[in-house]
Amino acid sequence: MKPESYFSKEIKPALENEPPGEWLPKIPDGCIRLSSGYPDRGLVPVDGVKEAVAELLDEEKDLPFHYIGSRKMEELSVFLQQLMNGCSVSVNDEEMLITSGACQAIDLIARVLVDDETVVALESPTYMEALEIFQNYTKHFISVEVDEHGLRTDRLEEVLKDRRRNGETLPKVLYTIPSFQNPTGTTMTEERRDHIIRLAEEYDFLIIEDDAYGNVYFEKGMVPLKSRGGDRVLYVGSLSKVVAPGLRIGWIAARPEFIRALSWFKKDLGHPFAQASVAAFLGMSDLDGHFASLRKVYKEKCRLMLSELKRELPSEVSWYVPEGGYFVWVRVPGVDTSGMLPAALSEGVSYVPGKYFFLDREEGIEYLRLSFSYASKQDIVEGVQRLGRVVEAAVGFEGGK
Ligand SMILES: Cc1ncc(COP(=O)(O)O)c(C=O)c1O
Repeated sequence: MKPESYFSKEIKPALENEPPGEWLPKIPDGCIRLSSGYPDRGLVPVDGVKEAVAELLDEEKDLPFHYIGSRKMEELSVFLQQLMNGCSVSVNDEEMLITSGACQAIDLIARVLVDDETVVALESPTYMEALEIFQNYTKHFISVEVDEHGLRTDRLEEVLKDRRRNGETLPKVLYTIPSFQNPTGTTMTEERRDHIIRLAEEYDFLIIEDDAYGNVYFEKGMVPLKSRGGDRVLYVGSLSKVVAPGLRIGWIAARPEFIRALSWFKKDLGHPFAQASVAAFLGMSDLDGHFASLRKVYKEKCRLMLSELKRELPSEVSWYVPEGGYFVWVRVPGVDTSGMLPAALSEGVSYVPGKYFFLDREEGIEYLRLSFSYASKQDIVEGVQRLGRVVEAAVGFEGGK
């Protein structure tokens, strides 16, 4: 018996891709993890969630453990709608679907919208897990570069014009992370936001707006594309970066017709207990205060990482200055950052090589992604010093070739 021979014809081409998570470096013990896009450990509300769960179970007994779940699950939807209202997006119950994190949201959207002939437009670079998801459904992509002001919408327009002129298939969807992007940390300007919405109208595509970092701003939040693009935007939110990723709470806000089709496939692949616990936690906590403190912590850690980079890295190395999010995107000219990784790991610091964020991996050779969210301040200082030594050696070596 050959198990592979039973796989569906949709699955077979996807299984030819690289296995998911290949980009994750195997990190030795004691290594400073500047690769991990996890929240700061001190910001995960362990005590708050503990208290909320205790109260939930005292009040509702076994209810949150059933398929049908707790009454609190509806409250979660209301909380998330309020969160969106706070960013100038109004949504009602028919326009919302709670998912197991943003990743399930992206996967469901791809499942409903993308088939093997669909062209998907992506930012270059982009979130590697989204890349993996879309590649499970199609092999047709357009990738458009990101600069310090986010997606180059002028380039996107050129590509769309060319394709229309040449009679080539136009993209059905564009996946973008307009605010505090993973991996570049960049934010799309207001002008580009307007431009992208105009392009979506003119070239008839949908926008998947991944706003996982929307609330992790340092000075000023951005109004999501959803508020300008209305019907054309399928908004994806997540509590992973502001509460805790292990709770797996994400959501989609989109037109009711999309939500109905997405629910069809989501079925009960959710977590009633986690949803009820998070609703109970949000109901008890001062969310504004929590957001304010996390913005302060991440802003300080980001500033610290940037000043250490300036001090410790050779002058030819450059990076974008983020206005929010978790990441600093670093360019080390002339150096293959995946080739440099073993040296970094043995020096005791990890990062993610840039190539994993690109469809065409060659484009990412000289880049690496650092995260300031998870490591402590002390580890950021020590980690960047270690990275400095490794980069210094690599630049010297490449330069001497
Ligand atoms: C852009 C982006 N979207 C989504 C996610 C994942 O979100 P979730 O944990 O809700 O699946 C991440 C996590 O790194 C991310 O960077």
